[in-house]
Amino acid sequence: MKKIAVVTGATSGIGKANVELLLKGKVDVIAVARSKERAHRLIEDMKDIQDGGKLKIVMGDLSDKAGVQQVLSQIHDLLNETYQGRLDLLMNIAGIVSSGLHLNQDGNEITFATNHLSVYMLTLGLVSALEKSKDPRILVVSSLSHYRASINFNNLQNKRCYNILKGYKRSKLYNVFFVKGFAKRYPHLPIFAIDPGLVKTEIGLKNTSRLAALIWRWRVSTGTDAYYPATFMVKIATDPSYISLSGHYFKDGMLQKSNPITYRDDYIERLWKETEKIVES
Ligand SMILES: NC(=O)c1ccc[n+]([C@@H]2O[C@H](COP(=O)([O-])OP(=O)(O)OC[C@H]3O[C@@H](n4cnc5c(N)ncnc54)[C@H](OP(=O)(O)O)[C@@H]3O)[C@@H](O)[C@H]2O)c1
Repeated sequence: MKKIAVVTGATSGIGKANVELLLKGKVDVIAVARSKERAHRLIEDMKDIQDGGKLKIVMGDLSDKAGVQQVLSQIHDLLNETYQGRLDLLMNIAGIVSSGLHLNQDGNEITFATNHLSVYMLTLGLVSALEKSKDPRILVVSSLSHYRASINFNNLQNKRCYNILKGYKRSKLYNVFFVKGFAKRYPHLPIFAIDPGLVKTEIGLKNTSRLAALIWRWRVSTGTDAYYPATFMVKIATDPSYISLSGHYFKDGMLQKSNPITYRDDYIERLWKETEKIVES
């Protein structure tokens, strides 16, 4: 039986490399895309993969709650049509870094909404499908930058004193807290936080000021290509030896200690509750 994966952030960078490796490994992929043009390019770029998995596209914007709900409902339709409602792998890869404070239509800061809220909503929204799999896995892409982040429950979204680095690194810290909170609640659904390292992608050029884009170009010139993290992400998603390591943080396919504050149960629980409140409001 062919495996079926959902990949967000599938249209560029790390997500696109994962889509390619999964298809080549004969895994069917539902790719989430926000831009029609990039979705067409993805289809075009994957069309020569011989004898691989099938690629399907779901269009939607993960930066607000309505967008995530639309994506979820299309994913469930596709899973019900062909896979008896089953999902084997969820790769939460979509992410942004944003210069300046921008609120979405729900009133949430867009980095927080895209990088954290959408991961929470999408993953919980797909629990029932993942529970139908014999070998379910969930990956959440965090970042090295989470080590330099703190948490302030009175300013979770950084609406006060927003700055680009604080907004991004805190969202990546929340990814690690989410993985730990989820692993406790759903021990039968293995979940992993991924540090992809510094990777040559366009993330720092998309929602950023000219200065931030310039700094990103300079900084990322020493990064790896996107296949480097994708190779070990696919390994974590398929190798049985990782199953018992649910809830942990991985770099280069290896277990690493995350930021010490991510081991605080009170923080894990409080962030979960605060996120739940925001999603339900
Ligand atoms: N590059 C690095 O060095 C690095 C390091 C640590 C962590 N990461 C993390 O890796 C992940 C992937 O980033 P990347 O570097 O590969 O950057 P990227 O090439 O810009 O990829 C980001 C992906 O997310 C999608 N996306 C962004 N906002 C979205 C939205 N509102 N709705 C739906 N999709 C959306 C983008 O779609 P479009 O193609 O339409 O833009 C793109 O496919 C991110 O979570 C990032 O935080 C990257």
